[in-house]
Amino acid sequence: MPEPVAAGSGKGYNQGHEARVTQRVAVLVVDDEEEFCRWLSKDFERRGYACATALDSKAALGVLSAGRVDVMLLDIALRSESGLELLKKARRDHPGVQVIMLTGNGTVRTAIEAMKQGACDYLAKPVDLAELCQAVERAGGEARMRRENDLLRREIERRDRFQEFVGRHPSVEEVRRLARKAAAADSPVLVCGETGTGKELVARMIHAESPRRHGRFLAINCAALQESLLESELFGHEKGSFTDAGRFKPGLVELADDGTLFLDEIGSMSPATQAKILRLLDSGEYRRVGGVDDLRNSSRVVSATNQDLAAAISVGRFREDLLYRVNVVTIRVPPLRERLDDVPLLAEHFLDKFHALGTRGRKAMSPQAMEALMRYPWPGNVRELENVVERAVIMAEGPRIEPSLLCLPGASSCAAVPFETATLAEVEKAHVLAVLARAGGNRAKAASMLAISVRTLYNRLREYGLD
Ligand SMILES: Nc1ncnc2c1ncn2[C@@H]1O[C@H](COP(=O)(O)OP(=O)(O)OP(=O)(O)O)[C@@H](O)[C@H]1O
Ligand SMILES: [Mg+2]
Repeated sequence: MPEPVAAGSGKGYNQGHEARVTQRVAVLVVDDEEEFCRWLSKDFERRGYACATALDSKAALGVLSAGRVDVMLLDIALRSESGLELLKKARRDHPGVQVIMLTGNGTVRTAIEAMKQGACDYLAKPVDLAELCQAVERAGGEARMRRENDLLRREIERRDRFQEFVGRHPSVEEVRRLARKAAAADSPVLVCGETGTGKELVARMIHAESPRRHGRFLAINCAALQESLLESELFGHEKGSFTDAGRFKPGLVELADDGTLFLDEIGSMSPATQAKILRLLDSGEYRRVGGVDDLRNSSRVVSATNQDLAAAISVGRFREDLLYRVNVVTIRVPPLRERLDDVPLLAEHFLDKFHALGTRGRKAMSPQAMEALMRYPWPGNVRELENVVERAVIMAEGPRIEPSLLCLPGASSCAAVPFETATLAEVEKAHVLAVLARAGGNRAKAASMLAISVRTLYNRLREYGLD
């Protein structure tokens, strides 16, 4: 297998942050007076700001989602919609943007309301240009500082992402080593392994550690969608390209341009789609469904498969040339039965995880339970182990998990919920508790997931002796 090239092939991404941080302040002026917008933007450009304008809130939201805005100057009295409404949306969806409100005469109360909603400043119209520039300078500085902090925080958070892939077996060390190399390169990666071995986790780690980490990680399961839908999801479609294509929609390929596209279960892709992906990987070119233009793109492709692609090639279901495109780096994730020594470590990892999600004390495996876990062949791999631990944590009354709580198939007894003989009440209790754990112990959320009232949930928990 060819080794990936070392860092640096991610053209320019490494210098990304500095460039982003030192960029000039970007201002968006939102006002329904076209003349005013033009006048301000001219002046701002002269002062070295990047400036965009919008005449209504729809256009403003478009600019906000399309790119980087540091400071938004917002007229409180827009014709189409109240400026306050736009302020609310901007604060919710683009919290990094600093908003300065422009108010007319006699709207002091609205100005106060605006400050409460998160505007950082307000100025009365007609504006004093010098005053306005000072306010923009201040807000721009604040926005820049936040952005830098954000980058630093993400930098710290992402350190050692590969440790998330738990295990000490040499085959797991090898997975981490290859993933690390793959993250530094920009070449396609193929992650193979049985179901539940952690292929998607590996793909996400590679993205999170790669120079593209500020771009998006977009996953699509090629086995879950039929051909035409898969192609429209991947490549996007033009308006009217098929019956319910009411409007243009960009595809994942396009959205992952500076990020990573994760093609899960690539072995299930139809021959026609395979040809299109091959073209994308070969030349970076693709076409939207119903489109006539060839578009170019440089998204990174990580694929996964639990099928034997060599066998699929031999029966003509998978293209050999595509395999050599997607597997520039191949990472084989070993099944859990080949590394049973890692089971205790993984079990502890999941005990911590479900403890953190729930509200009760941390559980521990009894030595016998741990032994049982290490004897089981784990056909569903790590995902199955995760589920077994989750169920046991939910069902355990005391701090220790005994083997009978694990409900491993083939085990002689299963005390938790022997479903064949369980009463409806027992099954209900198990389900309610599982949902509660999934909701992180949040009762309102659990109640809504169960489609019952919070009070009913409280009553049930009291019946179980758990309120
Ligand atoms: N080594 C590991 N350390 C910690 N968690 C793991 C590990 N491997 C897998 N997991 C967890 O197990 C679950 C299943 O992993 P994942 O979805 O990545 O598997 P997969 O190989 O993509 O499965 P499938 O083939 O069914 O799609 C996830 O919750 C994942 O976080
Ligand atoms: Mg998967």
